[in-house]
Amino acid sequence: MLTDNTIENIKKALTKYPNKQSAAMDALRIVQEEAGYLTEDALLQVADMLDMPPPELNEVATFYTMYNKKPVGKHHIQVCTNVSCSLLGSEHIVEFLSRRLGIKKGETTLDKKFTLSEVECLGSCGTAPMMQINDDYYENLTDGKIEEILKGLK
Ligand code: FES
Repeated sequence: MLTDNTIENIKKALTKYPNKQSAAMDALRIVQEEAGYLTEDALLQVADMLDMPPPELNEVATFYTMYNKKPVGKHHIQVCTNVSCSLLGSEHIVEFLSRRLGIKKGETTLDKKFTLSEVECLGSCGTAPMMQINDDYYENLTDGKIEEILKGLK
Protein backbone atom coordinates (compact mmCIF):
# COMPACT_ATOMS: atom_id res chain seq x y z
CA MET A 1 0.00 0.00 0.00
CA LEU A 2 1.49 3.35 -1.03
CA THR A 3 1.63 6.03 1.64
CA ASP A 4 -0.02 9.42 1.11
CA ASN A 5 3.48 10.91 0.90
CA THR A 6 4.51 8.46 -1.84
CA ILE A 7 1.32 9.14 -3.82
CA GLU A 8 1.88 12.88 -3.50
CA ASN A 9 5.50 12.59 -4.67
CA ILE A 10 4.48 10.48 -7.66
CA LYS A 11 1.82 13.04 -8.59
CA LYS A 12 4.47 15.77 -8.46
CA ALA A 13 6.79 13.67 -10.63
CA LEU A 14 4.03 13.19 -13.21
CA THR A 15 4.05 16.94 -13.90
CA LYS A 16 7.62 16.69 -15.23
CA TYR A 17 6.86 14.25 -18.06
CA PRO A 18 5.02 14.57 -21.38
CA ASN A 19 2.82 11.59 -20.50
CA LYS A 20 2.17 9.44 -17.45
CA GLN A 21 3.98 6.33 -18.69
CA SER A 22 7.21 8.31 -19.16
CA ALA A 23 7.27 8.74 -15.38
CA ALA A 24 7.43 4.98 -14.75
CA MET A 25 11.08 4.81 -13.68
CA ASP A 26 10.81 7.94 -11.54
CA ALA A 27 7.67 6.60 -9.86
CA LEU A 28 9.37 3.26 -9.11
CA ARG A 29 12.36 5.13 -7.68
CA ILE A 30 10.08 7.14 -5.40
CA VAL A 31 8.34 4.01 -4.13
CA GLN A 32 11.62 2.22 -3.52
CA GLU A 33 13.22 5.21 -1.76
CA GLU A 34 10.29 5.41 0.62
CA ALA A 35 9.47 1.72 1.11
CA GLY A 36 12.84 0.08 0.47
CA TYR A 37 11.49 -2.28 -2.18
CA LEU A 38 8.64 -2.79 -4.63
CA THR A 39 5.74 -4.99 -3.58
CA GLU A 40 3.19 -6.41 -6.02
CA ASP A 41 0.54 -4.18 -4.44
CA ALA A 42 2.72 -1.11 -4.90
CA LEU A 43 3.34 -2.01 -8.55
CA LEU A 44 -0.40 -2.39 -9.15
CA GLN A 45 -1.11 0.98 -7.55
CA VAL A 46 1.63 2.71 -9.52
CA ALA A 47 0.45 1.09 -12.77
CA ASP A 48 -3.02 2.44 -12.04
CA MET A 49 -1.66 5.95 -11.38
CA LEU A 50 0.29 5.82 -14.67
CA ASP A 51 -2.60 4.36 -16.70
CA MET A 52 -0.22 1.56 -17.59
CA PRO A 53 -0.96 -2.17 -17.89
CA PRO A 54 0.55 -3.81 -14.76
CA PRO A 55 2.61 -6.34 -16.80
CA GLU A 56 4.30 -3.46 -18.64
CA LEU A 57 5.27 -1.72 -15.42
CA ASN A 58 6.43 -5.05 -14.02
CA GLU A 59 8.68 -5.46 -17.07
CA VAL A 60 10.33 -2.13 -16.26
CA ALA A 61 10.72 -3.10 -12.61
CA THR A 62 12.17 -6.48 -13.56
CA PHE A 63 14.48 -5.35 -16.37
CA TYR A 64 16.46 -2.88 -14.26
CA THR A 65 18.49 -4.45 -11.45
CA MET A 66 18.30 -1.24 -9.40
CA TYR A 67 14.75 -2.07 -8.36
CA ASN A 68 14.38 -4.39 -5.38
CA LYS A 69 11.47 -6.85 -5.42
CA LYS A 70 12.06 -7.96 -1.85
CA PRO A 71 13.46 -6.34 1.29
CA VAL A 72 17.19 -5.75 1.31
CA GLY A 73 19.64 -5.34 4.16
CA LYS A 74 20.89 -2.06 5.60
CA HIS A 75 23.84 -2.28 3.20
CA HIS A 76 22.84 -3.50 -0.24
CA ILE A 77 26.03 -4.67 -1.94
CA GLN A 78 25.62 -4.79 -5.71
CA VAL A 79 28.58 -6.23 -7.58
CA CYS A 80 28.74 -5.47 -11.28
CA THR A 81 29.44 -8.66 -13.21
CA ASN A 82 29.15 -7.24 -16.71
CA VAL A 83 31.94 -7.56 -19.28
CA SER A 84 34.63 -5.13 -18.03
CA CYS A 85 34.16 -6.09 -14.40
CA SER A 86 33.96 -9.77 -15.25
CA LEU A 87 37.25 -9.62 -17.17
CA LEU A 88 38.88 -8.05 -14.12
CA GLY A 89 37.62 -10.54 -11.57
CA SER A 90 34.08 -9.69 -10.46
CA GLU A 91 33.19 -13.38 -10.08
CA HIS A 92 35.98 -13.66 -7.51
CA ILE A 93 34.60 -10.59 -5.74
CA VAL A 94 31.13 -12.13 -5.51
CA GLU A 95 32.65 -15.36 -4.14
CA PHE A 96 34.84 -13.42 -1.71
CA LEU A 97 31.88 -11.42 -0.38
CA SER A 98 29.72 -14.52 -0.29
CA ARG A 99 32.29 -16.34 1.89
CA ARG A 100 32.99 -13.26 4.02
CA LEU A 101 29.30 -12.55 4.71
CA GLY A 102 28.09 -16.16 4.79
CA ILE A 103 25.38 -15.59 2.20
CA LYS A 104 24.85 -16.42 -1.46
CA LYS A 105 24.01 -13.83 -4.08
CA GLY A 106 20.41 -12.71 -3.71
CA GLU A 107 20.45 -13.38 0.03
CA THR A 108 20.44 -11.16 3.11
CA THR A 109 22.36 -11.84 6.31
CA LEU A 110 20.27 -12.95 9.28
CA ASP A 111 20.97 -9.67 11.10
CA LYS A 112 19.57 -7.84 8.02
CA LYS A 113 22.79 -5.90 7.72
CA PHE A 114 23.94 -7.02 4.25
CA THR A 115 22.32 -8.12 0.99
CA LEU A 116 24.55 -9.37 -1.81
CA SER A 117 23.44 -8.93 -5.43
CA GLU A 118 24.94 -9.25 -8.88
CA VAL A 119 24.00 -6.40 -11.20
CA GLU A 120 24.50 -5.30 -14.76
CA CYS A 121 26.90 -2.54 -15.84
CA LEU A 122 26.84 0.44 -13.47
CA GLY A 123 28.57 2.73 -15.97
CA SER A 124 31.92 2.71 -14.22
CA CYS A 125 33.72 0.26 -16.51
CA GLY A 126 36.97 2.27 -16.46
CA THR A 127 37.37 1.56 -12.74
CA ALA A 128 36.45 -2.14 -12.89
CA PRO A 129 36.00 -4.25 -10.93
CA MET A 130 33.50 -2.26 -8.96
CA MET A 131 30.44 -2.48 -6.77
CA GLN A 132 27.77 -0.19 -5.43
CA ILE A 133 26.70 -0.20 -1.79
CA ASN A 134 23.45 1.69 -1.38
CA ASP A 135 24.18 4.95 -3.26
CA ASP A 136 27.99 4.81 -3.19
CA TYR A 137 30.41 3.37 -5.74
CA TYR A 138 33.54 1.43 -4.72
CA GLU A 139 36.01 0.94 -7.53
CA ASN A 140 39.24 -0.84 -8.51
CA LEU A 141 38.37 -3.47 -5.93
CA THR A 142 40.80 -5.90 -4.34
CA ASP A 143 40.23 -8.31 -1.45
CA GLY A 144 42.06 -5.90 0.86
CA LYS A 145 39.94 -2.94 -0.25
CA ILE A 146 36.76 -4.91 0.29
CA GLU A 147 37.86 -5.83 3.83
CA GLU A 148 38.44 -2.16 4.58
CA ILE A 149 35.09 -1.19 3.09
CA LEU A 150 33.26 -3.81 5.14
CA LYS A 151 35.03 -2.68 8.33
CA GLY A 152 33.80 0.85 7.66
CA LEU A 153 30.16 -0.18 7.42
CA LYS A 154 28.27 -0.01 10.70
S1 FES B 1 31.07 -3.52 -16.70
FE1 FES B 1 31.12 -3.10 -14.57
S2 FES B 1 30.72 -0.97 -14.49
FE2 FES B 1 30.55 -1.44 -16.58
